[in-house]
Amino acid sequence: MRAIVQDRYGDARVLRLADVEVPTPGRGEVLLRVRAATLDASVWYKTTGRPVVSRLAFGLRRPRERVAGQEVAGTVAAVGPGVEDLTVGDEVFGVAAGSFAELAVARADRLAHRPAEVPPESAAALAVSGVTALQAVRRAEVRPGQRVLVTGAGGGVGTFVVGLATDRGAEVTAVAGPDKADLVTGLGARHLDYTREPLASAGRHDAVIDVSGNRPLRDLRHSLSARGTLVLVGAGVTTSGFLGGAERMLLGAVWSPFVPQRLRGLTSVTRRDDLDTLASMVATGHLHPVVDRVCPLEQAPAAVRELGAGHARGKTAIVP
Ligand SMILES: NC(=O)c1ccc[n+]([C@@H]2O[C@H](COP(=O)([O-])OP(=O)(O)OC[C@H]3O[C@@H](n4cnc5c(N)ncnc54)[C@H](OP(=O)(O)O)[C@@H]3O)[C@@H](O)[C@H]2O)c1
Repeated sequence: MRAIVQDRYGDARVLRLADVEVPTPGRGEVLLRVRAATLDASVWYKTTGRPVVSRLAFGLRRPRERVAGQEVAGTVAAVGPGVEDLTVGDEVFGVAAGSFAELAVARADRLAHRPAEVPPESAAALAVSGVTALQAVRRAEVRPGQRVLVTGAGGGVGTFVVGLATDRGAEVTAVAGPDKADLVTGLGARHLDYTREPLASAGRHDAVIDVSGNRPLRDLRHSLSARGTLVLVGAGVTTSGFLGGAERMLLGAVWSPFVPQRLRGLTSVTRRDDLDTLASMVATGHLHPVVDRVCPLEQAPAAVRELGAGHARGKTAIVP
């Protein structure tokens, strides 16, 4: 089958189209015929092997899993032993290591059924970016009428955070680059162009959800009300260093007990119940995934290179 593979860490040139063996589903796993896969920040981290700490998960010297991609929507093509809730022919979406391929293996408990109203490209985008946004909005305890500031608001996770917070009735300020005014206002937010206006000009907020991950904690706290909640999601896309910005989450955890504001980190986990929640919100028109571009498999390396430039617009989908 055709797949995008990488044998070493580096820039997007380490990614190439190749013919590889079809993987076999093990216990608790299924084989998917991929209908769409989407890019997210972790694809860039795995390509580059940066921040260095990410190699603990991806492989120390080279990637353990050669095939790129993790967000997926597809059709169940084969079922491994012990899987009882999925059958061949089911349309599903979720997480599959190596989703930039014609076929990919996924853990059954990381998948949910895809409603017919949700296109494969939109469903794949929910798997990590959508789930992360849902868990961030919950962690921030966003309620109707609250003022919420979102950084990185025009990217993969950020567009979902804006959509979910406005759906909860919050008044959202979306911090994004100059070319994203139409995008974030279309999602119901006020646009703050960070290249022209300082964060502080937006005043104080009940919640700050930091997705872009490239601002000091003191600046983010300055945008919070006295008893507001800060949720730290991102660590920057064009990140470097050993921890690549994740040290802010550690700092936030250490500080939080000593200040009236709540400073919370987030490590999202893709669970079936959250996938179901998001899919039904999309199916009923409460949430609108922003799939900016759909590319064929062979264009995946170019799409990953653009992601690594750090200014993604919503999500990019790959269709094999
Ligand atoms: N904690 C978790 O469990 C978890 C889970 C998933 C992802 N993440 C992290 O979340 C972050 C975002 O992921 P993603 O997939 O959404 O990335 P993405 O699609 O690349 O989006 C990043 C966005 O940030 C914007 N941005 C860059 N600099 C900015 C700044 N100074 N102020 C405001 N916005 C800025 C970029 O565009 P513009 O500059 O044009 O606005 C881009 O739209 C990554 O660090 C990722 O690792 C964390």
